[in-house]
Amino acid sequence: MKINFHTFEKSNDIPADLVIEKITNFQKSKRYDFVETLNNKDYITQCTDVFANFSNINTFVQIGIGGSSLGPEMLITSLKKSDVKFYFFNNVDTDKTVKDLEEIDVKNALFYVVSKSGGTAETLAQFAIITNKLFELGYTEKDLKNHFIFATDPSKNELRKLANEFEITCLDVPPNVGGRFSVLTPVGLLPAIFAGINIKTLCSHAYSYAHDLLASDEFIQTVSKVIALYKEGVNETVLMPYSSLLRDFSFWFVQLWAESLGKKRKGERVGLTPIPGYGATDQHSQMQLFMEGPLNKLMFLVHVDKVNNQLKLSNKFTHPKLKALNKYTLKNLMDAEFFGTLKALNEQGVSHIHLELDKLDENSLSELIIFFELLTAITGHMLEIDPFDQPGVEAGKVYSFEWLDSVKGI
Ligand code: PA5
Repeated sequence: MKINFHTFEKSNDIPADLVIEKITNFQKSKRYDFVETLNNKDYITQCTDVFANFSNINTFVQIGIGGSSLGPEMLITSLKKSDVKFYFFNNVDTDKTVKDLEEIDVKNALFYVVSKSGGTAETLAQFAIITNKLFELGYTEKDLKNHFIFATDPSKNELRKLANEFEITCLDVPPNVGGRFSVLTPVGLLPAIFAGINIKTLCSHAYSYAHDLLASDEFIQTVSKVIALYKEGVNETVLMPYSSLLRDFSFWFVQLWAESLGKKRKGERVGLTPIPGYGATDQHSQMQLFMEGPLNKLMFLVHVDKVNNQLKLSNKFTHPKLKALNKYTLKNLMDAEFFGTLKALNEQGVSHIHLELDKLDENSLSELIIFFELLTAITGHMLEIDPFDQPGVEAGKVYSFEWLDSVKGI
Protein backbone atom coordinates (compact mmCIF):
# COMPACT_ATOMS: atom_id res chain seq x y z
CA MET A 1 0.00 0.00 0.00
CA LYS A 2 1.37 3.42 -0.91
CA ILE A 3 0.67 6.39 1.34
CA ASN A 4 0.60 9.83 -0.32
CA PHE A 5 0.21 12.96 1.82
CA HIS A 6 -1.61 16.12 0.79
CA THR A 7 -2.12 17.88 4.11
CA PHE A 8 -2.26 21.55 5.06
CA GLU A 9 -1.28 21.76 8.73
CA LYS A 10 0.10 25.20 9.60
CA SER A 11 2.94 23.76 11.67
CA ASN A 12 3.86 20.21 12.51
CA ASP A 13 5.62 20.46 15.84
CA ILE A 14 5.08 16.80 16.77
CA PRO A 15 8.58 15.38 17.29
CA ALA A 16 9.15 12.06 15.51
CA ASP A 17 10.93 10.86 18.67
CA LEU A 18 7.72 11.20 20.66
CA VAL A 19 5.79 9.08 18.14
CA ILE A 20 8.58 6.48 18.15
CA GLU A 21 8.54 6.39 21.97
CA LYS A 22 4.76 5.78 21.97
CA ILE A 23 5.18 3.02 19.37
CA THR A 24 7.97 1.35 21.37
CA ASN A 25 5.96 1.44 24.61
CA PHE A 26 2.89 0.13 22.84
CA GLN A 27 4.83 -2.79 21.34
CA LYS A 28 5.85 -3.82 24.86
CA SER A 29 2.30 -3.69 26.23
CA LYS A 30 -0.23 -6.54 26.34
CA ARG A 31 -2.48 -4.57 24.01
CA TYR A 32 -0.02 -5.24 21.19
CA ASP A 33 -1.44 -8.77 21.26
CA PHE A 34 -3.81 -7.95 18.41
CA VAL A 35 -0.65 -8.06 16.28
CA GLU A 36 1.18 -10.85 18.13
CA THR A 37 -1.79 -13.25 17.90
CA LEU A 38 -1.59 -13.04 14.09
CA ASN A 39 1.38 -15.35 14.43
CA ASN A 40 -0.47 -17.87 16.64
CA LYS A 41 -1.36 -20.82 14.40
CA ASP A 42 -3.80 -22.23 17.01
CA TYR A 43 -6.45 -19.72 16.00
CA ILE A 44 -6.16 -20.73 12.34
CA THR A 45 -6.35 -24.42 13.28
CA GLN A 46 -9.48 -23.83 15.37
CA CYS A 47 -11.16 -22.32 12.30
CA THR A 48 -9.95 -24.90 9.77
CA ASP A 49 -11.19 -27.72 12.06
CA VAL A 50 -14.68 -26.20 12.22
CA PHE A 51 -14.66 -25.68 8.47
CA ALA A 52 -13.78 -29.34 7.91
CA ASN A 53 -16.72 -30.44 10.09
CA PHE A 54 -19.30 -28.08 8.58
CA SER A 55 -18.13 -27.80 4.97
CA ASN A 56 -21.56 -28.86 3.63
CA ILE A 57 -23.55 -25.91 5.02
CA ASN A 58 -25.04 -23.40 2.56
CA THR A 59 -25.60 -20.48 4.95
CA PHE A 60 -23.41 -18.87 7.61
CA VAL A 61 -25.14 -16.71 10.21
CA GLN A 62 -22.97 -14.54 12.45
CA ILE A 63 -24.65 -13.47 15.68
CA GLY A 64 -22.79 -10.64 17.41
CA ILE A 65 -22.71 -6.87 17.71
CA GLY A 66 -20.08 -4.10 17.50
CA GLY A 67 -16.61 -5.60 17.10
CA SER A 68 -18.14 -9.08 17.00
CA SER A 69 -19.86 -8.28 13.70
CA LEU A 70 -18.47 -5.19 11.91
CA GLY A 71 -15.06 -6.72 11.11
CA PRO A 72 -16.52 -9.99 9.78
CA GLU A 73 -19.09 -8.05 7.69
CA MET A 74 -16.27 -5.99 6.18
CA LEU A 75 -14.15 -9.08 5.37
CA ILE A 76 -17.04 -10.83 3.65
CA THR A 77 -18.16 -7.82 1.59
CA SER A 78 -14.59 -7.16 0.44
CA LEU A 79 -13.31 -10.63 -0.41
CA LYS A 80 -16.10 -13.26 -0.51
CA LYS A 81 -15.42 -15.93 -3.16
CA SER A 82 -17.57 -18.93 -2.15
CA ASP A 83 -21.29 -19.59 -2.77
CA VAL A 84 -22.13 -19.69 0.94
CA LYS A 85 -24.82 -17.14 1.89
CA PHE A 86 -24.03 -14.81 4.79
CA TYR A 87 -26.34 -13.18 7.31
CA PHE A 88 -25.36 -10.93 10.20
CA PHE A 89 -27.68 -10.78 13.19
CA ASN A 90 -26.14 -7.59 14.54
CA ASN A 91 -29.15 -5.85 16.06
CA VAL A 92 -32.25 -6.54 18.11
CA ASP A 93 -34.61 -5.47 15.36
CA THR A 94 -37.69 -7.69 15.39
CA ASP A 95 -38.88 -7.21 11.80
CA LYS A 96 -35.41 -7.70 10.30
CA THR A 97 -34.84 -10.84 12.39
CA VAL A 98 -38.19 -12.32 11.30
CA LYS A 99 -37.47 -11.49 7.65
CA ASP A 100 -34.00 -13.06 7.79
CA LEU A 101 -35.29 -16.20 9.53
CA GLU A 102 -37.94 -16.62 6.83
CA GLU A 103 -35.20 -16.60 4.20
CA ILE A 104 -32.64 -18.80 5.96
CA ASP A 105 -32.52 -22.53 5.33
CA VAL A 106 -32.12 -23.15 9.09
CA LYS A 107 -31.40 -26.89 8.75
CA ASN A 108 -28.40 -26.23 6.51
CA ALA A 109 -27.11 -23.15 8.26
CA LEU A 110 -24.30 -22.72 10.76
CA PHE A 111 -24.98 -20.18 13.52
CA TYR A 112 -21.83 -18.54 14.89
CA VAL A 113 -22.44 -16.78 18.20
CA VAL A 114 -19.63 -14.34 19.01
CA SER A 115 -19.26 -12.34 22.18
CA LYS A 116 -15.91 -11.50 23.71
CA SER A 117 -17.52 -10.84 27.11
CA GLY A 118 -20.00 -13.68 26.69
CA GLY A 119 -22.77 -11.64 28.27
CA THR A 120 -23.99 -9.13 25.68
CA ALA A 121 -27.78 -8.97 25.90
CA GLU A 122 -28.34 -8.31 22.19
CA THR A 123 -26.32 -11.39 21.23
CA LEU A 124 -27.81 -13.71 23.85
CA ALA A 125 -31.29 -12.57 22.80
CA GLN A 126 -30.61 -13.66 19.21
CA PHE A 127 -29.22 -16.98 20.47
CA ALA A 128 -32.51 -17.55 22.33
CA ILE A 129 -34.50 -16.80 19.17
CA ILE A 130 -32.50 -19.22 17.03
CA THR A 131 -32.78 -22.03 19.59
CA ASN A 132 -36.56 -21.51 19.68
CA LYS A 133 -36.63 -21.74 15.91
CA LEU A 134 -34.65 -25.02 16.02
CA PHE A 135 -36.94 -26.45 18.72
CA GLU A 136 -39.97 -25.49 16.58
CA LEU A 137 -38.42 -27.55 13.77
CA GLY A 138 -38.22 -30.57 16.07
CA TYR A 139 -34.61 -30.40 17.17
CA THR A 140 -33.71 -30.87 20.83
CA GLU A 141 -31.01 -29.53 23.14
CA LYS A 142 -28.78 -32.46 22.12
CA ASP A 143 -28.78 -31.17 18.53
CA LEU A 144 -27.56 -27.66 19.35
CA LYS A 145 -23.91 -28.68 18.88
CA ASN A 146 -24.68 -29.53 15.25
CA HIS A 147 -25.99 -26.04 14.50
CA PHE A 148 -23.96 -23.66 16.65
CA ILE A 149 -20.33 -22.64 17.09
CA PHE A 150 -19.43 -20.07 19.75
CA ALA A 151 -16.46 -17.73 20.17
CA THR A 152 -15.63 -15.95 23.38
CA ASP A 153 -12.87 -15.05 25.83
CA PRO A 154 -11.13 -18.12 27.29
CA SER A 155 -12.19 -17.07 30.82
CA LYS A 156 -15.39 -18.43 32.36
CA ASN A 157 -18.43 -16.52 31.22
CA GLU A 158 -22.03 -17.20 30.33
CA LEU A 159 -21.37 -18.19 26.73
CA ARG A 160 -18.55 -20.58 27.68
CA LYS A 161 -20.79 -22.15 30.33
CA LEU A 162 -23.51 -22.68 27.72
CA ALA A 163 -20.93 -24.20 25.36
CA ASN A 164 -19.78 -26.64 28.03
CA GLU A 165 -23.34 -27.53 29.01
CA PHE A 166 -24.45 -28.31 25.44
CA GLU A 167 -21.07 -29.53 24.10
CA ILE A 168 -20.97 -26.72 21.56
CA THR A 169 -17.52 -26.06 20.04
CA CYS A 170 -16.23 -22.80 21.45
CA LEU A 171 -13.41 -20.89 19.76
CA ASP A 172 -11.18 -18.44 21.58
CA VAL A 173 -11.17 -14.68 21.29
CA PRO A 174 -7.62 -13.91 22.51
CA PRO A 175 -7.70 -12.48 26.06
CA ASN A 176 -5.93 -9.17 25.38
CA VAL A 177 -7.66 -8.42 22.08
CA GLY A 178 -10.74 -6.21 22.37
CA GLY A 179 -13.80 -6.50 20.13
CA ARG A 180 -13.00 -3.77 17.61
CA PHE A 181 -9.43 -5.06 17.18
CA SER A 182 -10.51 -8.71 16.81
CA VAL A 183 -11.29 -9.04 13.10
CA LEU A 184 -8.20 -11.16 12.40
CA THR A 185 -8.91 -13.61 15.26
CA PRO A 186 -11.50 -16.43 15.10
CA VAL A 187 -14.16 -13.65 15.29
CA GLY A 188 -13.54 -12.83 11.63
CA LEU A 189 -11.43 -15.77 10.50
CA LEU A 190 -14.19 -18.37 10.82
CA PRO A 191 -16.68 -16.56 8.53
CA ALA A 192 -13.75 -15.70 6.24
CA ILE A 193 -12.79 -19.34 5.70
CA PHE A 194 -16.42 -20.19 4.80
CA ALA A 195 -16.30 -17.29 2.31
CA GLY A 196 -13.32 -18.86 0.55
CA ILE A 197 -10.84 -16.29 1.86
CA ASN A 198 -7.28 -17.47 2.47
CA ILE A 199 -7.01 -16.86 6.21
CA LYS A 200 -3.39 -18.00 6.44
CA THR A 201 -2.34 -15.31 3.94
CA LEU A 202 -4.54 -12.74 5.68
CA CYS A 203 -2.82 -13.34 9.05
CA SER A 204 0.76 -13.91 7.94
CA HIS A 205 0.76 -10.86 5.68
CA ALA A 206 -0.87 -8.68 8.36
CA TYR A 207 1.81 -9.79 10.85
CA SER A 208 4.79 -8.95 8.67
CA TYR A 209 3.20 -5.72 7.42
CA ALA A 210 2.56 -4.53 11.01
CA HIS A 211 6.27 -4.74 11.82
CA ASP A 212 7.31 -2.97 8.61
CA LEU A 213 4.68 -0.27 9.03
CA LEU A 214 5.60 0.58 12.62
CA ALA A 215 9.23 1.08 11.55
CA SER A 216 8.34 3.23 8.55
CA ASP A 217 8.64 7.02 8.16
CA GLU A 218 5.25 7.07 6.44
CA PHE A 219 3.50 5.75 9.53
CA ILE A 220 5.29 8.17 11.87
CA GLN A 221 4.36 11.00 9.49
CA THR A 222 0.73 9.87 9.40
CA VAL A 223 0.47 9.91 13.21
CA SER A 224 2.22 13.33 13.39
CA LYS A 225 -0.12 14.80 10.82
CA VAL A 226 -3.28 13.44 12.48
CA ILE A 227 -2.19 14.93 15.82
CA ALA A 228 -0.88 18.23 14.40
CA LEU A 229 -4.12 18.77 12.48
CA TYR A 230 -6.23 17.79 15.51
CA LYS A 231 -4.44 20.49 17.53
CA GLU A 232 -5.49 22.97 14.85
CA GLY A 233 -9.15 21.98 15.10
CA VAL A 234 -9.25 19.25 12.42
CA ASN A 235 -11.32 16.86 14.54
CA GLU A 236 -13.34 15.01 11.89
CA THR A 237 -11.90 12.06 9.94
CA VAL A 238 -13.44 10.96 6.67
CA LEU A 239 -12.76 7.51 5.24
CA MET A 240 -13.72 7.30 1.59
CA PRO A 241 -12.71 4.21 -0.38
CA TYR A 242 -13.48 4.42 -4.10
CA SER A 243 -14.88 0.88 -4.19
CA SER A 244 -18.29 -0.58 -3.34
CA LEU A 245 -16.50 -3.65 -2.02
CA LEU A 246 -14.90 -1.49 0.65
CA ARG A 247 -18.09 0.24 1.74
CA ASP A 248 -18.37 -1.89 4.90
CA PHE A 249 -14.72 -1.13 5.60
CA SER A 250 -15.84 2.44 6.30
CA PHE A 251 -18.38 1.23 8.87
CA TRP A 252 -15.77 -0.99 10.52
CA PHE A 253 -13.44 2.05 10.68
CA VAL A 254 -16.18 4.19 12.25
CA GLN A 255 -16.45 1.90 15.27
CA LEU A 256 -12.68 1.53 15.60
CA TRP A 257 -12.01 5.28 15.47
CA ALA A 258 -15.03 6.48 17.46
CA GLU A 259 -15.07 3.95 20.28
CA SER A 260 -11.29 4.09 20.69
CA LEU A 261 -10.64 7.82 20.46
CA GLY A 262 -13.75 9.50 21.87
CA LYS A 263 -12.89 9.73 25.58
CA LYS A 264 -12.76 11.94 28.65
CA ARG A 265 -9.21 12.95 29.57
CA LYS A 266 -9.01 14.37 33.10
CA GLY A 267 -12.48 15.86 32.73
CA GLU A 268 -11.79 17.25 29.24
CA ARG A 269 -13.59 15.66 26.26
CA VAL A 270 -11.42 14.56 23.33
CA GLY A 271 -12.14 12.68 20.12
CA LEU A 272 -12.03 12.62 16.37
CA THR A 273 -15.40 12.08 14.73
CA PRO A 274 -15.30 9.45 11.96
CA ILE A 275 -17.35 10.02 8.82
CA PRO A 276 -17.94 6.99 6.58
CA GLY A 277 -18.17 7.48 2.85
CA TYR A 278 -17.57 5.73 -0.43
CA GLY A 279 -16.72 6.97 -3.85
CA ALA A 280 -17.74 7.82 -6.40
CA THR A 281 -21.34 7.70 -5.04
CA ASP A 282 -20.64 10.19 -2.24
CA GLN A 283 -19.42 12.78 -4.72
CA HIS A 284 -23.12 13.37 -5.27
CA SER A 285 -23.83 13.51 -1.56
CA GLN A 286 -21.30 14.48 1.14
CA MET A 287 -18.57 15.82 -1.15
CA GLN A 288 -20.02 19.34 -1.34
CA LEU A 289 -19.58 19.62 2.44
CA PHE A 290 -16.05 18.22 2.30
CA MET A 291 -15.05 20.67 -0.46
CA GLU A 292 -16.63 23.89 0.77
CA GLY A 293 -17.69 23.25 4.35
CA PRO A 294 -15.53 23.92 7.40
CA LEU A 295 -11.85 23.01 7.01
CA ASN A 296 -12.03 20.68 10.03
CA LYS A 297 -11.69 17.37 8.18
CA LEU A 298 -8.83 15.05 7.38
CA MET A 299 -9.84 12.68 4.59
CA PHE A 300 -8.42 9.23 3.94
CA LEU A 301 -9.14 8.38 0.30
CA VAL A 302 -8.54 4.79 -0.81
CA HIS A 303 -7.99 3.98 -4.48
CA VAL A 304 -7.75 0.45 -5.93
CA ASP A 305 -5.67 0.38 -9.10
CA LYS A 306 -6.81 -2.91 -10.68
CA VAL A 307 -10.28 -4.45 -10.74
CA ASN A 308 -11.18 -8.02 -11.65
CA ASN A 309 -13.40 -7.18 -14.64
CA GLN A 310 -13.67 -4.54 -17.33
CA LEU A 311 -16.88 -3.00 -18.63
CA LYS A 312 -16.66 -0.95 -21.81
CA LEU A 313 -18.72 2.22 -22.18
CA SER A 314 -18.71 1.98 -25.99
CA ASN A 315 -22.11 2.85 -27.44
CA LYS A 316 -23.72 4.01 -30.68
CA PHE A 317 -25.64 6.98 -29.26
CA THR A 318 -25.01 10.41 -30.76
CA HIS A 319 -25.97 12.31 -27.60
CA PRO A 320 -22.76 14.29 -26.80
CA LYS A 321 -22.35 13.14 -23.20
CA LEU A 322 -22.83 9.47 -24.06
CA LYS A 323 -20.58 9.81 -27.11
CA ALA A 324 -17.84 11.33 -24.95
CA LEU A 325 -17.75 8.14 -22.87
CA ASN A 326 -17.40 5.94 -25.91
CA LYS A 327 -13.71 5.08 -25.74
CA TYR A 328 -13.50 4.49 -21.98
CA THR A 329 -14.27 1.76 -19.46
CA LEU A 330 -16.29 2.07 -16.27
CA LYS A 331 -13.01 1.79 -14.35
CA ASN A 332 -11.58 4.74 -16.32
CA LEU A 333 -14.55 6.78 -15.12
CA MET A 334 -14.00 5.73 -11.49
CA ASP A 335 -10.30 6.65 -11.76
CA ALA A 336 -11.16 9.99 -13.36
CA GLU A 337 -13.52 10.78 -10.48
CA PHE A 338 -10.92 9.78 -7.91
CA PHE A 339 -7.98 11.73 -9.34
CA GLY A 340 -10.21 14.67 -10.30
CA THR A 341 -11.41 14.83 -6.69
CA LEU A 342 -7.82 14.77 -5.34
CA LYS A 343 -6.97 17.78 -7.50
CA ALA A 344 -10.07 19.68 -6.39
CA LEU A 345 -9.39 18.90 -2.71
CA ASN A 346 -5.87 20.29 -3.14
CA GLU A 347 -7.25 23.48 -4.63
CA GLN A 348 -9.65 23.85 -1.71
CA GLY A 349 -6.89 23.21 0.88
CA VAL A 350 -8.70 20.16 2.30
CA SER A 351 -6.17 17.86 4.01
CA HIS A 352 -6.21 14.35 2.67
CA ILE A 353 -4.13 11.19 2.63
CA HIS A 354 -4.31 8.98 -0.45
CA LEU A 355 -3.95 5.24 0.23
CA GLU A 356 -3.18 3.37 -2.98
CA LEU A 357 -3.86 -0.37 -3.30
CA ASP A 358 -2.70 -2.33 -6.32
CA LYS A 359 -5.76 -4.62 -6.17
CA LEU A 360 -8.20 -5.81 -3.52
CA ASP A 361 -7.04 -9.16 -2.14
CA GLU A 362 -5.97 -10.80 1.13
CA ASN A 363 -2.65 -8.93 1.14
CA SER A 364 -3.95 -5.44 0.50
CA LEU A 365 -6.98 -5.80 2.77
CA SER A 366 -4.79 -7.00 5.64
CA GLU A 367 -2.54 -3.97 5.11
CA LEU A 368 -5.50 -1.61 5.23
CA ILE A 369 -6.83 -3.26 8.41
CA ILE A 370 -3.44 -3.13 10.17
CA PHE A 371 -2.83 0.47 9.05
CA PHE A 372 -6.04 1.71 10.68
CA GLU A 373 -5.76 -0.50 13.78
CA LEU A 374 -2.21 0.72 14.49
CA LEU A 375 -3.07 4.32 13.63
CA THR A 376 -5.98 4.17 16.09
CA ALA A 377 -3.85 2.68 18.87
CA ILE A 378 -0.93 5.11 18.50
CA THR A 379 -3.20 8.15 18.00
CA GLY A 380 -4.91 7.18 21.26
CA HIS A 381 -1.57 7.01 23.07
CA MET A 382 -0.52 10.37 21.58
CA LEU A 383 -3.78 11.85 22.90
CA GLU A 384 -3.03 10.30 26.31
CA ILE A 385 -6.24 8.33 26.47
CA ASP A 386 -6.86 4.58 26.65
CA PRO A 387 -7.90 3.57 23.10
CA PHE A 388 -8.89 0.09 24.26
CA ASP A 389 -11.70 0.76 26.74
CA GLN A 390 -15.24 2.08 26.26
CA PRO A 391 -16.49 3.34 29.66
CA GLY A 392 -18.93 5.75 27.99
CA VAL A 393 -21.31 3.01 26.87
CA GLU A 394 -21.73 1.37 30.29
CA ALA A 395 -24.30 3.77 31.75
CA GLY A 396 -26.62 3.25 28.77
CA LYS A 397 -26.48 -0.54 29.30
CA VAL A 398 -27.27 -0.24 33.03
CA TYR A 399 -30.20 2.11 32.35
CA SER A 400 -31.55 -0.23 29.64
CA PHE A 401 -31.78 -3.06 32.17
CA GLU A 402 -33.25 -0.67 34.73
CA TRP A 403 -35.92 0.13 32.13
CA LEU A 404 -36.53 -3.57 31.39
CA ASP A 405 -37.00 -4.22 35.12
CA SER A 406 -39.61 -1.48 35.24
CA VAL A 407 -41.85 -2.96 32.51
CA LYS A 408 -44.02 -6.05 32.71
CA GLY A 409 -42.66 -8.01 29.71
CA ILE A 410 -44.56 -10.85 28.00
O1 PA5 B 1 -15.05 -3.04 20.63
C1 PA5 B 1 -15.67 -3.48 21.58
O2 PA5 B 1 -15.11 -3.98 22.57
C2 PA5 B 1 -17.18 -3.47 21.59
O3 PA5 B 1 -17.72 -2.74 20.55
C3 PA5 B 1 -17.70 -4.89 21.54
O4 PA5 B 1 -17.26 -5.50 20.36
C4 PA5 B 1 -19.24 -4.95 21.60
O5 PA5 B 1 -19.70 -4.23 22.70
C5 PA5 B 1 -19.70 -6.40 21.71
O6 PA5 B 1 -19.16 -6.99 22.84
P1 PA5 B 1 -19.05 -8.54 23.01
O7 PA5 B 1 -18.19 -9.07 21.94
O8 PA5 B 1 -18.46 -8.73 24.38
O9 PA5 B 1 -20.44 -9.11 22.93
